[in-house]
Amino acid sequence: MSEAIDIVALPGSRVPEAADALARSLHDDPVFGHIFPRARERERALPSLWSLTLRDTVAFGVVHMALMGDEIVGVAAWFRPGRFPLTTGRRLRCVPSIIPVLANAPRSLPALIRLGMALEHSCPPGPMWYWQVIGLTPRLHGKGIGNRLARAGLELVDQAGLPCHLETFSERNVRWCQGLGFEVTATRTRADGDLPRLWKMVRPGKGAAGDPTDEP
Ligand SMILES: CC(C)(COP(=O)(O)OP(=O)(O)OC[C@H]1O[C@@H](n2cnc3c(N)ncnc32)[C@H](O)[C@@H]1OP(=O)(O)O)[C@@H](O)C(=O)NCCC(=O)NCCS
Repeated sequence: MSEAIDIVALPGSRVPEAADALARSLHDDPVFGHIFPRARERERALPSLWSLTLRDTVAFGVVHMALMGDEIVGVAAWFRPGRFPLTTGRRLRCVPSIIPVLANAPRSLPALIRLGMALEHSCPPGPMWYWQVIGLTPRLHGKGIGNRLARAGLELVDQAGLPCHLETFSERNVRWCQGLGFEVTATRTRADGDLPRLWKMVRPGKGAAGDPTDEP
């Protein structure tokens, strides 16, 4: 049974708190262990990295937060079709915000670029939603809250009747996402590059397609 949790849209004013929550949640994710091998560096760099990412997603995508009281305990971020990869203008707006990340982890730039390229190349063709991230505060894992948070986004996906894709670097998450209707479409191994193993997953569309360019 889940705790008393509200799932609502993340306002731009709360991006830094949401970024802190995601940073804590993803501290042990294999890809961030690879990009920021030192735990201390990772603790310092991840909040800045998620701040810059969420600022763009709040503006151009859909971001939900799970609130326990007034505390952000979970975040899930999504893009409608055509919003990922980022346009050149959006990328350029992110550039100044990468400085705090690099200030905390100066050697991380090549691996960050490789990650960005791997995610862009994973985009399947055709109109599809993209599930960018979900993360829940570690003390609340396994209580069904992640499932509720995910379903708030999947409801929008299903209203559009479109497929949705994601990537994960954790085999445990593959099983969890399969429970939400995603299927593995490809894996990418370390041999393809220097990143940890990556699973690409797609959840087929549920029928009646809406206009892929529709805004809420
Ligand atoms: C992945 C995550 C969002 C799942 O949320 P959650 O609230 O812990 O999961 P739920 O309680 O909804 O579901 C748990 C069920 O899925 C199973 N499960 C499979 N993979 C799991 C995983 N990675 N984490 C937690 N449970 C997982 C559990 O065994 C459990 O099954 P059961 O109910 O039959 O015992 C959460 O664990 C998390 O934030 N993980 C760290 C961040 C992360 O890896 N995010 C995804 C990559 S972007």
